[in-house]
Amino acid sequence: MELFDVYPLYNITPASARGVIIKDESGQEYLDLYGGHAVISIGHGHPHYIKRIKNQIDKIGFYSNAVHNPLQHELTEKLGRISGCDDYHLFLCNSGAEANENALKLASFHTGKSRVIAFKNSFHGRTSAAVASTDNPAINAPINRQQQVTFLTFEDIDALRKEVAKGDVCAVILETIQGVGGLDEPSSSFCAEIAELCKKHQVVLIADEVQSGFGRSGKFFAFQHHNITPDIISIAKGMGNGFPVGGILIHPKIEAKYGLLGTTFGGNHLACAATLAVLEVLEEENLMANATEIGAYFKECAKQVPQVKRIKGKGLMLGLEFGFEVADLRKNLILNQHIFTGSAKDKKVLRVLPALNIEKVHIDTFFTSLKQELE
Ligand SMILES: Cc1ncc(COP(=O)(O)O)c(C=O)c1O
Repeated sequence: MELFDVYPLYNITPASARGVIIKDESGQEYLDLYGGHAVISIGHGHPHYIKRIKNQIDKIGFYSNAVHNPLQHELTEKLGRISGCDDYHLFLCNSGAEANENALKLASFHTGKSRVIAFKNSFHGRTSAAVASTDNPAINAPINRQQQVTFLTFEDIDALRKEVAKGDVCAVILETIQGVGGLDEPSSSFCAEIAELCKKHQVVLIADEVQSGFGRSGKFFAFQHHNITPDIISIAKGMGNGFPVGGILIHPKIEAKYGLLGTTFGGNHLACAATLAVLEVLEEENLMANATEIGAYFKECAKQVPQVKRIKGKGLMLGLEFGFEVADLRKNLILNQHIFTGSAKDKKVLRVLPALNIEKVHIDTFFTSLKQELE
């Protein structure tokens, strides 16, 4: 058998990793400023993370959601406290797409409606309603196009008003910092307008925090930079620092009912142990403050690079916009400078999404290398 060939690969084979450094088979080191699509939040191979998962698998790694799992309660309590969303309820699943799928499904159950409002350049995953709410026709199969989704532009309040007033919208799904799209952000006033219109028309407001959550923006959730209260918050990526885990936080106004949502693997013992370890390290090492501090330092350094047209993002969810497409620059950073960065749908944006415990010295290394490649 061969692998189904859907990924264009760089010719690199990571063999081990610690913190923000990845080593390949030949011992060559790479500086990881991308975390495998914003997944590595507390650094590769964090000792506390390794210990927590090892200890857990020695006891029990998995059982289904038909029996008690005290780790889920420990996680719910800790996540509620650290995120400031203590009054929400938690449903655990396995990935970002699955989180959004459950969020959209719940919104539809709750409102009895089915049309979704999403935004231009959004990315919410590759399955069913999540991919239909993603602004990329190339990854929407005919079966997905049956979902009713309307894409609006950030700041177009008139269009938003007009669409929600039609009465058939179940959810507005929003990244307050767009990830894959290229780090665009709605204004606080537009966010407030969305929240108010959702409330007025009984529409569920979903904050997609799959990429921006778990401290990446310097606050636990990126929507917390704006004064809004989403009805559902979807999470994944940095939540497990590489362990596949996702979830949704659900406002208490949405009632649970047996059988409404469900999953075989979601909330298993190992996933809980991984997420608990991430939360413990985030708190213990004050990583949200570090994300803010290092993010600000990164922006200062970026200002010294004349080819950078715009610096985008918050905390350690960052993008550098150039006047040219960055595919070659990204490739040269990897192959010549041994630094991983990311691309975006906006081809002129280079994305930087390092672990939240990255240090200034790594940012210095990046800018020295970037300048060399831009010479
Ligand atoms: C904002 C956002 N939502 C959802 C997803 C989908 O997550 P996953 O790849 O875990 O399904 C992504 C992945 O990049 C994302 O950035």
